[in-house]
Order: sequence, then structure tokens, then C-alpha cells
Amino acid sequence: MNDLKIPGKALKSFVLTQEFKRFKEFAVSCTDFRYIGICYGDPGVGKSLAASHYTNWDDEITDENAIDDISPERRKMIESCKGIVVTAPVTNTPKIIKTNIVRRTFGYGVALSKANNETDVYKRVVNSQGLCPLVIIDEADRLNINSLEEVRNLYDQHLFGLIFIGMPGIEKKFSRYPQLYSRIGFSHEFKRLSEDEMKFIFPKIWRNLGLIYNPDDFSDVEALNIIMRVTGGNFRLIDRLFSQITRILKINKLQGITKEVVEAARKCLIIGDH
Ligand SMILES: Nc1ncnc2c1ncn2[C@@H]1O[C@H](COP(=O)(O)OP(=O)(O)O)[C@@H](O)[C@H]1O
Ligand SMILES: [Mg+2]
Repeated sequence: MNDLKIPGKALKSFVLTQEFKRFKEFAVSCTDFRYIGICYGDPGVGKSLAASHYTNWDDEITDENAIDDISPERRKMIESCKGIVVTAPVTNTPKIIKTNIVRRTFGYGVALSKANNETDVYKRVVNSQGLCPLVIIDEADRLNINSLEEVRNLYDQHLFGLIFIGMPGIEKKFSRYPQLYSRIGFSHEFKRLSEDEMKFIFPKIWRNLGLIYNPDDFSDVEALNIIMRVTGGNFRLIDRLFSQITRILKINKLQGITKEVVEAARKCLIIGDH
């Protein structure tokens, strides 16, 4: 686990999973080769969080202008930032998606120029569009053909690495648009957590809750197995289930997670067919 704090979440910090490492390799390849990549996976497996954790993108950078000097905080931000993340709006036209991307790549470009001590305002502006190495478009299922065409056009102009994140099936949808499909270099399936990984991660979550997981205690092992079964490795469910577990432990002043606690927590959740 590392320092990224996720407010209001039971998991509190970002868990560095195997799937995240694979996502990172995929994103690095898209950046290095300036390819288009598609990342797809079920809702709640952690795609959006992986994108923001990898890029370290902060929407504040969009506000950067070419004239003012960069603040030390923003300098730090941009130096650790590997690209921009845009969430496709629910209703989108080519113009809306273009504005969303260009504003951010411009902010990224001028911020980076300033961080690299470029003093000429004209150069800061002119160079800005070419500086962004990676654009990630989340909720890409929402894009229609015209918006996709606009994104492809921007990609051809500026040659950033480009990742579309969406639900399973997005790759089939894209295969209907040969212009775009022919440019796709990588496809990546974002999978849910494996059982082995859950067994590795859950004891850490136990610890985060101030409890100790004992692999020799049957009731701990039983509780862990039920959590694995109920959540099926889906991060959103894991987070919600642990939120309920924490609540139940607190209300009942209990000291350990047992089968009964997990089952009581489960009853409070709406869980699909996992
Ligand atoms: N690596 C992670 N570490 C901690 N929590 C995570 C992680 N990945 C996902 N989550 C939790 O799961 C929730 C859903 O993740 P999200 O990225 O929104 O899923 P998706 O975009 O695939 O639908 C997050 O809000 C967070 O609570
Ligand atoms: Mg998402």
C-alpha cells in the first residue's frame, strides 16, 4: 500500500496490485510507442483509479496559463505527472470532447514548459500541444462515432499516446471503425483480483482496521474465505463490504471479523451476480 489517500473509503490507500502493474506496463508502452490502447474490464475492478494513480493527473493543472510563473506545488505536480485523464461526459459532441482534451493538454504543456524554465511566453504556448505524452479517456463507451473521429484527429495531429478505458465489448465496438481500429496497438483486459492476491491483500486491510489476521485461527480464515466469495475480487465490492464490516464492528464493539460479521455486512449491500 502507498500514500495515495482515498477519502471516504474503507481501503484508505491505493493497493499496488498485480493488475495495476500490468496496467502500468501497458500505459508505458502506449506512451513510448505513441500508440492507441484499449483497456477494458468489468465495473468496479479499479480501472479509473489505476489511470489516475498511474498518471498522477490533477485537474488543477488545466488552469495553468502561459503568463504567470508556476507555483512550487504545481511544479511538483507536473514533474510527477505522466499524462492527462479525461472522463468522457455523458452527453458529448465532438466539440465538447475536443475542448475537454485540448484544455488539459494545453495546461499540461504550459505547466511543463514553465517547470523546464522556459521564459518565452510565445514558446510556452506554441510548444504546449506537443508536450503531453499520454491522454487517457475514461468511460470511452460514451463516445459516439463523431467524437471518436475527433479524438483520432487530435491524436494524428499531436501524436500523444492514447488509452481508451471502457467496459468489456468496447474493443468490438471500435472494430467497426477501421480508421481508428487500424491505429490501435495494444489491448488490455483489466481483471479482477485473483484469489491468491486477495489472500495476500486482505490481512493488510485487517491491519489497517486495527485488527490482526491470524492464519491459524479458523474463524479468521473462514471470514476471509467468505469475503473472497462474496466480492469475487471486485474492488468496489471489497471496499463497500469492508466499510460495512467496520460499521458493524464499531456498533457492536467487536474485536474481530467473523463469519457472522461478514454475513451481516453482506446483507446491507446490494450485490449483483458475483
Ligand atoms: N488499487 C486499489 N486500491 C484501493 N482501492 C481500490 C483500488 N482499485 C479500486 N479500488 C476501489 O474500488 C473502487 C472502484 O474503482 P474504480 O477505479 O472506480 O473502478 P472502475 O473504473 O473499474 O469501475 C474505488 O473507488 C476504490 O474504492
Ligand atoms: Mg471507472
